Amino acid sequence: MLTEFIKTDPDNIDMELIARAADCICRGGLVVFPTETVYGLGADAFNFDSVGKIFQAKGRAADNPLIAHVSDIEQVNELVRRVPEKARILMERFWGGPLTLILERKPTVPDVVTAGLNTVAVRMPSHSVAHELIRAAKCPIAAPSANISGSPSPTTAQDCLRDLDGRVDMIIDAGASPIGLESTVLDMTAEVPVILRPGAVTPEMLRDVLGDVRFGEESSDIPKCPGMKYTHYSPAAEVIAVRDIRSFTATASLGDTDAVISFSRDRTEQNFFDAGEDCASYAARLFYLLRRCDDSGMKRIYAYLPPSRGIGAALRNRLLKSSGGRVI
Ligand code: TXA
Ligand code: MG
Repeated sequence: MLTEFIKTDPDNIDMELIARAADCICRGGLVVFPTETVYGLGADAFNFDSVGKIFQAKGRAADNPLIAHVSDIEQVNELVRRVPEKARILMERFWGGPLTLILERKPTVPDVVTAGLNTVAVRMPSHSVAHELIRAAKCPIAAPSANISGSPSPTTAQDCLRDLDGRVDMIIDAGASPIGLESTVLDMTAEVPVILRPGAVTPEMLRDVLGDVRFGEESSDIPKCPGMKYTHYSPAAEVIAVRDIRSFTATASLGDTDAVISFSRDRTEQNFFDAGEDCASYAARLFYLLRRCDDSGMKRIYAYLPPSRGIGAALRNRLLKSSGGRVI
C-alpha cells in the first residue's frame, strides 16, 4: 500500500487533514499519529479486521494486547464494565496524559484488542493532534507504538516512516514527541494498583494520590503485562547500561564504533550522543538517540543508567530492557 505522509502544526491543527485521517480510520485504515509519549499506530478499536492489520504491520505477537485511546473520560464507558473510584480519581488527575489504566473490559471489546484477556488498557492522550483525531473518528483508537516490534519506539514521524513505509495508510507528522517514553501502565484490577510499566506519571506521583502502589513482577511465567516478556527497545547495536558513566569514560578506551549516551556534562571526545541536562531530556531523547547510533554505524552503546527517582524509574526500565540486563 502507498503510505501518505502529512504534516500539521500541533498548535494550529489543520482540521481538514484530521478529518481525512479520521475518515481513513473509520473506513478500516491504519493511521500513524503523534502522542505526547511516542507515536502510535492506530485503528478503529471496534473494527476486528483493521486491528488485526496493526499486528501484521508491526510484526507483533497476537498475545500482546493494545491500548484503546479515548478523547474524553465518558468514552471509557464504551470499553469498560465500570470505573472504580480510584480509577476515576486518577483520570481526573492525570488525563489527558501519559497514564494507561487496566480495567475490566466490556464483552463487546474485540478479543483482538485485549488478546483475549478480561481486561482492557485505556488511555487519554494529552497531545492535541491525538485528541482531535480520536474525537473526529468518534471511536476509541487502538494503538501500539508505531515501530516494528522489538525496535525502539518512534518519537518522530520520520522514524515511523522508516519502520512502516508501505505498511500503513497515513502518517501524521507533528514534530517530536515531548515525553519520549511510553505511558505508565497501571493495573487497577488488583486491590492495590500495580505498575506494570513505569512512565512519566511516576511512582511518586501515583503514591501521592493513591497512598499505596506496587511494582509488577515482570518475569513471572504468565506476565500480566504481556508486552514485557518480548525483546524491547533494541537497536541493532549492543546496549550496555553504565551506572558510573564518568569513571567509565575516564578509564575505558573506546573504539570507533563505541558510542556513549549521557548528560551533556559527561561529554566524551568522540561518538558522544547528548541526552541533555536532566532525566526529562534524557527520556525525551533516549529512543531517538538509540536509532541515531544505529544510523551512524555504532556497534556498541554505553548508556548512562540514572537513579530511579521520578522519570528515572522509566528510563531504567527501558535501558535494562534494551541492554538485556547488561549493567556495568
Ligand atoms: O504511550 C503509550 O502507551 C504508547 C502511545 C502510542 O499511546 N503506546 C504504547 O503501546 O506504548 P504498546 O502497545 O507499545 O504498549 C502497551 C503495553 C504493552 O506492554 C501491553 O502488553 C500492555 O500495555 N497492555 C495492553 N493491554 C493490557 C492489558 N489488558 N493488561 C495488561 N497489560 C496490557
Ligand atoms: Mg511498544
